[in-house]
Amino acid sequence: SQHKIAVIVGSLRQDSFNRKLATGIARMAPPDFSFNPVRIDDLPLYNQDDDANQAASVKRLKAEIAGSAGVLFVTAEYNRSIPGVLKNAIDNASRPYGQSAWAGKPAAVLGVSIGAIGTALAQQHLRNVLAYLDMPTLGGPEVFIQAKDGLFDDAGNIGPGSQAFLQGWMDKFTGWVKLHA
Ligand code: FNR
Repeated sequence: SQHKIAVIVGSLRQDSFNRKLATGIARMAPPDFSFNPVRIDDLPLYNQDDDANQAASVKRLKAEIAGSAGVLFVTAEYNRSIPGVLKNAIDNASRPYGQSAWAGKPAAVLGVSIGAIGTALAQQHLRNVLAYLDMPTLGGPEVFIQAKDGLFDDAGNIGPGSQAFLQGWMDKFTGWVKLHA
């Protein structure tokens, strides 16, 4: 059977390295998996007053998560934490209370930044949030990538220097999703 993965990119930037990473790694998926980008740029700022009347974009996000076998977060690091746009998406789909879209969905976290520690601190903050949301999150291999020339080839594939490492990650992640199916 086909396993659908919802992919959430923690950057709205047009030429986002994290979006490129999400696109490139999706091409390394085995044939029984599909990686589907999920929009977060049109969500309202989370407001608890809206819980009984969530926006169409929030309902769409929740339905996409509910229909997925797992969730992949590919995030930038902003000021040593996760970007607000990502936290906003997580908050929106976690409510109303008791109707979180996230609970029980197996997850993984990836990230690329121009800084030397490659989103490590953002990922650690995100793992804290995912633990609270009861998302079993792949522990390793951790993927902290520093953006450098050659990370992607001209066609947008993962470059040769990172291919074996990221294919190993893919094998672990797809196994993790099946384990929690
Ligand atoms: C950054 N950047 C950054 N990098 C990092 O390694 N650690 C950090 O804490 C921050 N903080 C930060 C804050 C803000 C507001 C911006 C705009 C940028 C740099 C960041 O790694 C770089 O902009 C990446 O290109 C962001 O990822 P995307 O958008 O390319 O996916």
